Amino acid sequence: MHRTLRLANPRPLLSSARAQPRHLVAVRHNHQNASPAPAASSSSGANVSNDQRTTHFGFQTVPEEAKESLVRNVFDSVASSYDVMNDAMSMGVHRLWKDDFVARLKPGARGPLRCIDVAGGTGDIALRILDFAREKYADRETSVDVVDINGEMLKEGFKRFKKTMYHNTPQIAFKEANAQAMPEAEFPSNTYDLYTIAFGIRNCTSVPDVLKEAYRVLKPGGTFACLEFSRVNNPLFRSIYDQYSFSVIPLLGTLLAGDRASYQYLVESIRRFPPQPEFAKMIQDAGFVTGGLHEGKGGAWIDLWDGIASIHTGVKL
Ligand SMILES: C[S@@+](CC[C@H](N)C(=O)[O-])C[C@H]1O[C@@H](n2cnc3c(N)ncnc32)[C@H](O)[C@@H]1O
Repeated sequence: MHRTLRLANPRPLLSSARAQPRHLVAVRHNHQNASPAPAASSSSGANVSNDQRTTHFGFQTVPEEAKESLVRNVFDSVASSYDVMNDAMSMGVHRLWKDDFVARLKPGARGPLRCIDVAGGTGDIALRILDFAREKYADRETSVDVVDINGEMLKEGFKRFKKTMYHNTPQIAFKEANAQAMPEAEFPSNTYDLYTIAFGIRNCTSVPDVLKEAYRVLKPGGTFACLEFSRVNNPLFRSIYDQYSFSVIPLLGTLLAGDRASYQYLVESIRRFPPQPEFAKMIQDAGFVTGGLHEGKGGAWIDLWDGIASIHTGVKL
């Protein structure tokens, strides 16, 4: 059991957060509001063209094996500005969504939980889980393993937790690993009560592989919960949101982080993620029991702000 606060296999700093990542300089961007070119893709988003498997990286098509390092470079580049940028881009709304996400899961309500927050980045969800359990239920035993593929994001999280009461306690650990293939030795099967992933799954090359791993590491009866950008339902609202995303967010990236390309990727990646019913079906296909394939009470997901983001849940029986 990993109960110590540690950073496994930290990667060396690659570049200054202000540096334009070289791999992104040549990115070909579609026009504002353009829909991604439809491709005959599998549910993982992967295509097979000739003998090379390809996937999407924002609106680009890239070899499947390239995506992981492209995504890693994006988050290496944005790590130090990530929290500030999140606030600026969403005007603070991401905090409300994350609060709502955690409050719905009620960590600590039925005793301490062993949680894993995958693609956990700088620890936003982990901190909320621990605070919620402590403040609402006086639970000081719930623990969270924050897992991320990117050592730079984890380092930011580690620094942040240093200033909290959880530092150096068995309640928090930071671990570097790929959500699609978490080493069995470090992440044994049937271990966790709660698996969370917030704004992370769309960055992974294979969504089914992430879900498969989530299913593996959860205990029977454990809950999978995903907060992710999704598909806006109302066409008028969607077009306003598209205008905002494609013009304001890359501009903020330039002004606040000196990095337009990474933030352009973040916007594009949102548009490439499957809409709510499709993603819910993928969760079911991984073996989870979900609500019906609809939104709201008794459904597999809940829309936030008309679907700008959504919360999908499933239970491993
Ligand atoms: C947009 S951030 C979200 C961070 C945090 N969950 C939050 O809500 O603030 C996405 C995170 O996913 C991580 N990530 C991307 N691909 C991953 C993978 N295959 N396995 C684990 N983490 C991954 C990135 O490194 C990054 O920290």
